[in-house]
Amino acid sequence: MINLSIIGSGNVGKHFIALVQNSKDLNLIQWLSRSESCYQKIKTTSDFKNIEKADVYVICVSDSSIHEVSKTLNLHNQLIVHTSGINHFNILCDNNRRGVFYPLQTFTKENKTRELEIPICIESEYNEDIKLLIDLCKYLNLKYYQVDYEKRKILHLAAVFSNNFSNHLYSIAYKITKNNNIDFDILKPLIQETANKILLLEPAKAQTGPARRDDMVTINNHLKLLKNDDYRNIYKTFTQLIKDENKL
Ligand SMILES: NC(=O)c1ccc[n+]([C@@H]2O[C@H](COP(=O)([O-])OP(=O)(O)OC[C@H]3O[C@@H](n4cnc5c(N)ncnc54)[C@H](OP(=O)(O)O)[C@@H]3O)[C@@H](O)[C@H]2O)c1
Repeated sequence: MINLSIIGSGNVGKHFIALVQNSKDLNLIQWLSRSESCYQKIKTTSDFKNIEKADVYVICVSDSSIHEVSKTLNLHNQLIVHTSGINHFNILCDNNRRGVFYPLQTFTKENKTRELEIPICIESEYNEDIKLLIDLCKYLNLKYYQVDYEKRKILHLAAVFSNNFSNHLYSIAYKITKNNNIDFDILKPLIQETANKILLLEPAKAQTGPARRDDMVTINNHLKLLKNDDYRNIYKTFTQLIKDENKL
């Protein structure tokens, strides 16, 4: 049994709370949040100084507040981890034993919690603490990877390309269809298959489309249809990158 407390009630904090509640091997000691909790059944507090004893404290607050929040906690020599991909564990106040518990997944409060595969990148300041973080992953039924800071930064960068930027491209596609009174839903099977294909193929090998075929007639037609200069620039940049990748 691991006793843990979660700090933060944003996208990640809420998901972790739901996962902890589903585990019989984890005992949630406290959920600390400066805002009112919607999970009334859980013991929550906004009094960060009045923190109870736990085996591990998981700080799930915005990157810019991690240090400040870790300083507020009235703790000494306890295991404290943050969930950020881009920050070193030494951003946490050095009163305590520090570590990282970075979930390489995308979480949005509005998206109801459902079974998600969540790889966890773990790191700890002291070797003795890694076992507890491994057990925490096991009890949460999540796969873990021991990843040092240098590698985690790179993973975070790759995650921005594969998740945030691709999601922004969906957003552009959404606007293009909406502006032309077309239902975005018709694109969803294509979006789904694009993601499915790279589970089996290297992304460059899965590429199709006019740039991959060097079809300049279609490319020029598309550019004429695009009225937004930023979208035209993105289209041109991606087209060139795909052509370069395929030496066209
Ligand atoms: N979202 C993701 O997909 C994702 C994935 C992997 C890792 N992460 C990492 O997980 C961490 C949390 O991200 P998130 O998406 O959950 O952020 P979020 O939804 O913006 O929530 C941030 C939380 O931090 C709290 N907070 C901010 N400043 C605070 C302060 N000074 N004192 C106390 N509480 C404070 C907020 O409280 P209020 O609600 O009261 O403002 C909120 O509960 C970040 O380090 C992020 O990089 C996020």
